[in-house]
Amino acid sequence: MDARAELLAWYDAHRRDLPWRRTREPWAVWVSEVMLQQTRVQTAIPYFERFLARFPSPSALAAAPLDEALALWSGLGYYRRVRQLHAGARAVAAAGGRMPTTAAELERLPGIGPYTAAAVASIAFGEAVPVLDGNVARVVARRLALAQDPARRETRRRLLAAAGELVDPRRAGDSNQALMELGARVCTPRAPRCAACPLAAGCRGAESGAAEAYPPPRARRAPRRVRQVAALVEGAGGRLWLVRRAESEAVMPGLWEPPTVEAAGRRAAEAAFAARFGGDWRLSAPVARLRHGITFREIELEARAARWQAAAVAEGDAAGWFTRAELAALPLTGAARKLLVPPEAS
Ligand code: ADE
Repeated sequence: MDARAELLAWYDAHRRDLPWRRTREPWAVWVSEVMLQQTRVQTAIPYFERFLARFPSPSALAAAPLDEALALWSGLGYYRRVRQLHAGARAVAAAGGRMPTTAAELERLPGIGPYTAAAVASIAFGEAVPVLDGNVARVVARRLALAQDPARRETRRRLLAAAGELVDPRRAGDSNQALMELGARVCTPRAPRCAACPLAAGCRGAESGAAEAYPPPRARRAPRRVRQVAALVEGAGGRLWLVRRAESEAVMPGLWEPPTVEAAGRRAAEAAFAARFGGDWRLSAPVARLRHGITFREIELEARAARWQAAAVAEGDAAGWFTRAELAALPLTGAARKLLVPPEAS
């Protein structure tokens, strides 16, 4: 068997049964590929199922307010993805509701990049185009024993060409998913299992005996450690006071959260809240602590109960009081969701 056939035979024997693999429906494939770009398979599954149940077509998403889509995405992170999906769905709906069928046309939709276009075109429509996500890039870089930084344009071009040679035009989507699967489960970053790999023959990385050396590690930016305090301000009827992040924020624009400041300790936080929101703030000892990582930041968040005598709420409709039940339906930041919504309600 040649490499393509070996790869497909391995995939047929070892593929995981994942919800988006039970269909070739292009919308389901699109949603799954967007979710999976920055989210692990196991995490994505329940989100995928809820999202498709609520938005079974591009037109269904297009007809819904962005906030509702954001609420269903809450906790997945990288919210730009769902904004772009919403924009893409609106373009499809405006053009009659049918999705384009080739990578070149898909890429003309707002918010669809080369990866998503190729993944959808190959998986849903069988177009023989290669995809290059992190897993596939690693498999192929090892196959070629390519020592260059995969982020370089020239390296990507070579990786894409080599991935293309592994795509069987009769089963393009399966070939691509097989490469992703191989990267996720066999050709893993630190401990590749070359003995179990269908592509070991002809792999220059495996022949070298040190496949894990490829691709060379990228220089990583050290995450910045940030300490934050979130204030749980409770009003009449147990309502909580939440604020909405500005649309201009670089991360998580438009999402709701308890008022939060960057500060370490009670005194510093009380001063920071007063400076930001006015009035006189009194914070309790921490009632919960949370660690979470978002783009280049490692956040240590303390939640503290707060009493606040404000002269006026200056935030207009960017702030409001919400019952616990209303909270669950709001597009919350991931941290706010962890703090405020019990798991069974999310
Ligand atoms: N990662 C990206 N796309 C995927 C897919 N279709 N199946 C599994 N993992 C993936």
